[in-house]
Amino acid sequence: MTLSLHAVTSSFVAEVGDVDLRNELAAGDLAAIRAAFATYAVLVFPAQDLSAVQHLAFAWNFGPIEPTVDAALKRENTRVLAGIADIANIDTTGKLWNAGDRMRSFQMLANRLWHTDSSFKQPSGYASLLYARSIAPVGGNTEFADLRAAYDALAPETKRRIGSLVAEHSILNSRRRLGMAEFTDAERAAFTPVLRPLVRTIPESSRATLYIASHVGRIEGVQAEEASALLDALLAHATQPQFVYAHRWRVGDLLLWDNRCTMHRGRDFDDLRWPRDLQRVTTSDRIDAFAGAVRASGARASY
Ligand code: OGA
Ligand code: MN
Repeated sequence: MTLSLHAVTSSFVAEVGDVDLRNELAAGDLAAIRAAFATYAVLVFPAQDLSAVQHLAFAWNFGPIEPTVDAALKRENTRVLAGIADIANIDTTGKLWNAGDRMRSFQMLANRLWHTDSSFKQPSGYASLLYARSIAPVGGNTEFADLRAAYDALAPETKRRIGSLVAEHSILNSRRRLGMAEFTDAERAAFTPVLRPLVRTIPESSRATLYIASHVGRIEGVQAEEASALLDALLAHATQPQFVYAHRWRVGDLLLWDNRCTMHRGRDFDDLRWPRDLQRVTTSDRIDAFAGAVRASGARASY
């Protein structure tokens, strides 16, 4: 094994050095990355130089690559290869999105809400790998919240209250939060809501975690206003500064995060002025989220 690991925080974020992700990894290096990823839910690989194919190949180490939102909506995107989510503020002709562009709201502005990738898909998202090809000179950080630490810090009565609750996730819910009201039939058909436990256990670390996002709408068995207040309270709790890491991007950074136990959001930058070209690959969770649910009794489901 040749790679080096540098903890950025004690148990949430680490940097991985001395590894070139263009090449197939030595077995020891891959094992070390997987082990680190069970402890640190966000890994930063600085100074990479990846083609789209190399990006996809590295992602395969973390499970099957999920279809993108563009693919689910049969939207043509000639900027990226299949399997790659285009996170840039650039249209397919190379121009920056304009203020009124629907894609700017649906993709970029919605990414500024706290969320986890693909909790609304079946199967849900596991690992996301976001790679910076170009960045804005100022702004545009990405922030991450540790939902395991946030769960640990909940009051015992809150843990009991939410331990067996099940929430509905849909990408359209987060877009509604943004004020978008109109969706096409194709969008409604592609993104029918899915049910997810509010609390789950991560098998690799046996750690319990909140599983929340701006994609949450209804909570089963909870009256609508109460569900909305509960979600807002949990989002506010989980995104307090002690649970949050802010990443200042450098070109060539690849960030790997675990969507089962983190939320993230993009921060503001002058996107009508600066191009910011990030590309993401997300892999699917192999285990249905319900298998990781923690029962109200505190008993953990087995795998
Ligand atoms: C994403 C995302 C935020 C950002 O790629 O999934 O939410 O800062 N990105 O671009
Ligand atoms: Mn995202």
